[in-house]
Amino acid sequence: MFKMIKKNIFNRIFINQCYFKIYDKIFFFNNPNSLIKNGYLIYDKKFTFENIDFDKYLDYSNYDFVMHRRKIEFQDLKKIYKNLYEIGIASLLKNYLGNKIFAYDNSILTLGNNVSNNDSMQPHHDSKSRRIKIYIWLNNKNLNTHPLYYLKKSHKKIKIWKNSQQTRFPYLNEEIFEKIYGEKGEIILFDTHGIHSHFKTTTVPRSVIELTFEPFGFFNRLNKKNIKGEIKRLNLIDLDQLILN
Ligand SMILES: [Fe+2]
Repeated sequence: MFKMIKKNIFNRIFINQCYFKIYDKIFFFNNPNSLIKNGYLIYDKKFTFENIDFDKYLDYSNYDFVMHRRKIEFQDLKKIYKNLYEIGIASLLKNYLGNKIFAYDNSILTLGNNVSNNDSMQPHHDSKSRRIKIYIWLNNKNLNTHPLYYLKKSHKKIKIWKNSQQTRFPYLNEEIFEKIYGEKGEIILFDTHGIHSHFKTTTVPRSVIELTFEPFGFFNRLNKKNIKGEIKRLNLIDLDQLILN
């Protein structure tokens, strides 16, 4: 009995959810934005593509794959983050996640011709607790491409899970999800703790800049105990290092 209570209550992720519930009440009581309320936000300013050549990341001889990622070179990454900082994204991230944030993934994600209902191409949450993914759309809006599926408000409902099977929801009908298609340059932020994604049934390729942000701290998945190992494993970069230097 005590073991079960310990596992379910004194669990860092469970505490993290309670912590953010209080955090949201204190800081966003009067004016919660769509990220707080719904778990995702379409930013009101667009990304500008000045001085960055994305062609090298988008050049494929064929699209015979479900998804493919290319790492963004550091000099391009600095330009991307400079642009995001100038339009206010860094402060939005800090408001939502706290002051100490690590950035990773930092890739161009391209979806190809193949359909799929496996792995991340099914409804799921990322089991990392509160963290943000940003997608910046690199193609013109096309309803024949695969959208970002997001189950509104689900980021507030998930408290605990026992195994990876409990983080997958293949039985959820796609009708209940928001389907988000971006215009070129549009910036979408979503909390990966909410349920997102769905089966890929479309075959038209599309690409986004994919950036992931996770908070560091005692109540977070990234904390003093594991940070050294996680920096190596995930190639984490301090957000301040990317935006301030
Ligand atoms: Fe995911």
